[in-house]
Amino acid sequence: MFAALGEYLLFLGIVLGDIFLKILFLLLSPLITLYAKYGGEGNRAKRQHPLPRVPSGIFITGASSGVGEALAYEYCKRARQRGVQGPVLYLTGRNAARLEQVCLRCRELGASKVHALVLDVADATAMREAITKADQEIPLDVVIANAGVSITNTRVMELDKAGVTGYERSKALFDVNLYGVLYTIWPALDCMIQRNRGGQIAINASIGSYIAEPMNMSYTASKAAVRFYGESLRTAMAPLGIRVNTMLLGFVESRMTESVKKKHGKLPFGKSAEEAATALVNQLERDVGLIEYPAWPYGVLGEWLNGAPPLVREWIWSMVMGGFVHRALRKMKHPDSGDATSTRDTNANEHSRLTRLIEKLI
Ligand SMILES: NC(=O)c1ccc[n+]([C@@H]2O[C@H](COP(=O)([O-])OP(=O)(O)OC[C@H]3O[C@@H](n4cnc5c(N)ncnc54)[C@H](OP(=O)(O)O)[C@@H]3O)[C@@H](O)[C@H]2O)c1
Repeated sequence: MFAALGEYLLFLGIVLGDIFLKILFLLLSPLITLYAKYGGEGNRAKRQHPLPRVPSGIFITGASSGVGEALAYEYCKRARQRGVQGPVLYLTGRNAARLEQVCLRCRELGASKVHALVLDVADATAMREAITKADQEIPLDVVIANAGVSITNTRVMELDKAGVTGYERSKALFDVNLYGVLYTIWPALDCMIQRNRGGQIAINASIGSYIAEPMNMSYTASKAAVRFYGESLRTAMAPLGIRVNTMLLGFVESRMTESVKKKHGKLPFGKSAEEAATALVNQLERDVGLIEYPAWPYGVLGEWLNGAPPLVREWIWSMVMGGFVHRALRKMKHPDSGDATSTRDTNANEHSRLTRLIEKLI
């Protein structure tokens, strides 16, 4: 009873403190915005190294479909609209046939040169070689670490079918979503720092990075890791004139979300990959540090959930989760038959079912 009261008072203190600080931020926000946009060493360095109207050397990972593909088209279209030479594109993916189709379309849209690089982003050596070589051919203005997988994505599902455990599948997801991003941005940074002419690095995280949701935990944790990394890197790299932008998308139509769309008929507040690419490039050009798209409802709800006191977040997710693990546990505790042997069998079955379920969530 007293413990609950203590928890409640702590909760109240956190909420009131949070409200007070938010009001303070709101009052100071005109000044903070001006300083963040124009003040400080970082902005001085960025002014010395302005971004070209349309970047000439662009490297995009995971460009064989979805958002990465749409970003490649968007840069080509902008060059054409603005009457400047089309960019030299380095596009990566693992599916050579799909990647070739994308390259073909980019050439039609006016790209100066398009290189199709069939690469696994989780291969550090291959990524370093590819990025360093590309940068020697043409200084890379923009590098976009976009490649990513989710538990609903085909390759990871294929691993599932091959009898791989959930833990191994989770490791494979982190290899792509976390290490794949680092293996892209580290060599890119080395090249940009050496050239000392600025540049732009964009990381495709997710609005999911705000949400410690228990049904997609490896994905959201991997995205939270790269979001934090991107935000920290932005501040560290600003004095060198290197822009680091982190992109947080809500639902976007792509191969990754195909199964969700099939199941629910449409994606909640979903956007097409083209719409997302236009919004992302608009904000990359304005050097927005944390790009949330669409801002409503995903940006607003994501920030709100992220800012909720831990107890509230825990309550929300336990409500959502209730259906899954709790039902399995209840079944284990109340097997249908009273017979001792079959009860043991049912328990063993339910145990292995529960393990499989937990592995799926992990
Ligand atoms: N769609 C959404 O609703 C949404 C929301 C938030 C964030 N995002 C993020 O946006 C990014 C792009 O996803 P998308 O929606 O465009 O999905 P997508 O159509 O499935 O595209 C994923 C891309 O990543 C590539 N890729 C996956 N694993 C790779 C690996 N190991 N090595 C190299 N390339 C690899 C894929 O290439 P191959 O198929 O050729 O292997 C593909 O080009 C991801 O990081 C995703 O997490 C998407």
